[in-house]
Amino acid sequence: METMKTSPIGIFDSGIGGLTVAHAIHKALPKEQLIYFGDTAHLPYGDKSPDSIKYYSIRIAQFLLEHGCKMIVIACNTASAHAYETVKDFVGKRAVVINVIDPLVAAVAKQKKWNKVGVIATKGTVKADSYAKKIKTAAPQIQVSSLATPLLAPMIEEGFFNNKISRTVIGSYLDHKKLQKIDALLLACTHYPLIKEEIMDYYKNNITVLDSAGLVAEAVVKVLRTKKWMRAQSGSHQFYVSDFTPSFQESTKYFFGSKITLHKAAIWK
Ligand code: DGL
Repeated sequence: METMKTSPIGIFDSGIGGLTVAHAIHKALPKEQLIYFGDTAHLPYGDKSPDSIKYYSIRIAQFLLEHGCKMIVIACNTASAHAYETVKDFVGKRAVVINVIDPLVAAVAKQKKWNKVGVIATKGTVKADSYAKKIKTAAPQIQVSSLATPLLAPMIEEGFFNNKISRTVIGSYLDHKKLQKIDALLLACTHYPLIKEEIMDYYKNNITVLDSAGLVAEAVVKVLRTKKWMRAQSGSHQFYVSDFTPSFQESTKYFFGSKITLHKAAIWK
């Protein structure tokens, strides 16, 4: 369909985390127009109930559909864990829905030498246990040990990374006994690529540290290619938040340059 080619890709998260995914999609597909929604009014998603996450996700999906999106990327692990099926049912045939968990699980399943992987994520993602369940099906020989790291997303959202405080917090989580003797660590929160270097420094590059941003971008490319929905001429991205935060503005500029304009979308009335 010709209209699908020019339609934008919708991406959402609780805050700036999904920008790591948006940036990877932009790099892989520079001509695609992105519409990003950061639900900063409800941040952090990690300690909200599954019902609240479903409710927020459906409303945001509706907003993105109203903006004509051909695809909705749930650029948040917590929402992917709790609301992927719900959003897919709600969206139906109107758009393709992509989550951030499946591409990472597929990458893990390709590894033949790994015995144990650690997962760090929000409380909500760890509670849903999606990684352990999906890896058990895709690669039953790999043991999964998950640790909730609830301070990390708010810390990053506040701009605390690459400093003394972030290194101390990261170190005290990674010292946990659940994360010992692992072959790889999965960054199962889209905020965490912003602290990936610090995590790699902690491990002195002795283990693999994997995040989903690039893998999700590859999944998006594959869908658009298969459906012949690739856009030919570049369009300008749009960024929306449910509440203005200075750190969101800064982070958006960090990823997409200074020309971006941030809009407040009052979808919660
Ligand atoms: N970036 C999110 C995730 O991947 C949400 C973090 C939060 O809001 O708690 O889970």
